[in-house]
Amino acid sequence: MENSHVTIRFQDKPVVCRSGISVAAALWENGIRVLSHSPKYGRPRGVKCARGHCGNCMMRVNGQPNVRTCHTEVTAGMVVEVQDTGVPFGRTMQQSLEAFSSVIPNGFYYKWFTKPALVSKAFIHGIRPMTGIGKLGSKTSDSTSTNHSVFDTVVIGAGISGMETALSASGSVLLVDDQSTPGGQRFSALQQIEQLDAPESLSKQIISSQHITFAGDTRVVAGYKPGMLLLKSGDGLSTVKAKTIKWCAGKLDRIGLFENNDLPGLMGPRGLYRLVAKQQLDVNNCDVVVCGHGRDFWLSAFLLNAKGANVTAVLDVDDKDLIETATASGITVTTGTMPVAARSNNGTLSAIKLEDTSYKCKLCIITGNAKPAYDIPYQLGAKLTLDPARGGFIIDRKWEDQS
Ligand code: FES
Repeated sequence: MENSHVTIRFQDKPVVCRSGISVAAALWENGIRVLSHSPKYGRPRGVKCARGHCGNCMMRVNGQPNVRTCHTEVTAGMVVEVQDTGVPFGRTMQQSLEAFSSVIPNGFYYKWFTKPALVSKAFIHGIRPMTGIGKLGSKTSDSTSTNHSVFDTVVIGAGISGMETALSASGSVLLVDDQSTPGGQRFSALQQIEQLDAPESLSKQIISSQHITFAGDTRVVAGYKPGMLLLKSGDGLSTVKAKTIKWCAGKLDRIGLFENNDLPGLMGPRGLYRLVAKQQLDVNNCDVVVCGHGRDFWLSAFLLNAKGANVTAVLDVDDKDLIETATASGITVTTGTMPVAARSNNGTLSAIKLEDTSYKCKLCIITGNAKPAYDIPYQLGAKLTLDPARGGFIIDRKWEDQS
């Protein structure tokens, strides 16, 4: 990571940022935590997943709308704007609809305005400002390749199971991951606290393998039958075809249900690993609360502590294994419930409330709530089964066997 700085313009004012970090991280370090607003109620939104999944960080960058700023590096002279300037209009539109709610049938949705054509046309013009996205840019930088790459196997996700799957597959293998190096979500966090274990030796094998092509900083954005995937990387869009697709994409963070659970400053451990371990977000002296239990709970607490944050770790179950080590490292460990509410100051997190106590904090990491990722297999026709013990829908085993 370079130590130099660049100046960008945010809302027409100069902002000095460390070079090499994302726009979202740079704004955070400058005290700017509200990046967008929810379309319906205009609630503040801040960086959350840091992996291009949620859309909370979408802003207008150099005139281009809908840029995910958690994935966009700062460059000198870059112009960054909050794009949802239509929120006041959206709110008015929502209020008008609510005023007529007594005569609007249950289940009413804006798609009902598909007829008559005249009303539909007028309403479609209103939908974009209503959602707050604003005007489209004049051009897009994405281009789509018309030639498909062909592989025997495509493995999606380069965590431990993805790397093991790629190494055991025969023929040509494409291993796709949205991070720049193989190793998975926790790898960079483990490196930061000097806990190198299995991922490092596996990732070295991946890099030196003759039959595996590693596509880093690449996301699978859609799946088609039969065996067709659409990929997005810094070079734009491309397609890949494979006889076999292996899904090893792991889990997605969930914050859980409580009052104000959408405030900027609340995030899951995977977002934290990307922002703090990968992008080196400065959290020195920041008051942070880590809630939950399990591997991600401890890894989050140790990572933040190693980066100089003031960490209070609140265990929600009896998980005594690492209490002594954590306390000796300067982490305040206590027990308590999961959050029941969050409090805000100027639209960003200022405190987290548990059942019987509350803690002041600017950042709160909620662990133990992740759900299995399943979006691409679902697009490819996989059946899903709800499994509350695993925290969400899981992919039907029969589809896994066929894939
Ligand atoms: S997409 Fe950037 S924070 Fe989720």
